[in-house]
Amino acid sequence: MERTFVMVKPDGVQRGLVGEAVGRLESKGLKLVAARFELMPDKCVIEQYKEHQQKPFFNSLKKYIMSGPVFLMVWEGKNAVKIVRTVIGATNPAEAAPGTIRGDFGLDIGRNVIHASDSVESANREIAIHFTADNLVSYTRIDEPVLYE
Ligand code: RTP
Ligand code: MG
Repeated sequence: MERTFVMVKPDGVQRGLVGEAVGRLESKGLKLVAARFELMPDKCVIEQYKEHQQKPFFNSLKKYIMSGPVFLMVWEGKNAVKIVRTVIGATNPAEAAPGTIRGDFGLDIGRNVIHASDSVESANREIAIHFTADNLVSYTRIDEPVLYE
């Protein structure tokens, strides 16, 4: 089983899309193992978006992520990283397919509603930025026996 880090960004929170995002991941069959609602501290934003620190959009990205509360989650399941990236859609909502979260709810690349880790490596790194091992809850979902072959 894989775990991935997902975050409803400030625009998603302000637009009341937390329930929609959680609902889509839940009904896909993925298992929620941790969640927290917060104003992300400066140092966590920098760490989260480390790979983009030298990019021209970094300052506006940081300002956007810190502009309001975010909803942080860890989801678990078979191929969770790839599956969640598929559920959220392409980075630019203009290119995101209908039926994806960004495709259904976003317009602008700088306001794309939701984040999800892009690889297993990123997922492990990002989960460790925001959660401790104690925060990750181990349990069985009642539908697990029918979700997997
Ligand atoms: P995220 O990390 O937020 O899930 O998004 P992503 O993997 O799909 O895209 P990534 O390349 O990691 O970019 C991180 C976030 O930076 C903003 N961005 N703006 N103006 C631009 O050209 C630009 N490019 C990226 C987006 O909000 C993107 O989600
Ligand atoms: Mg990314």
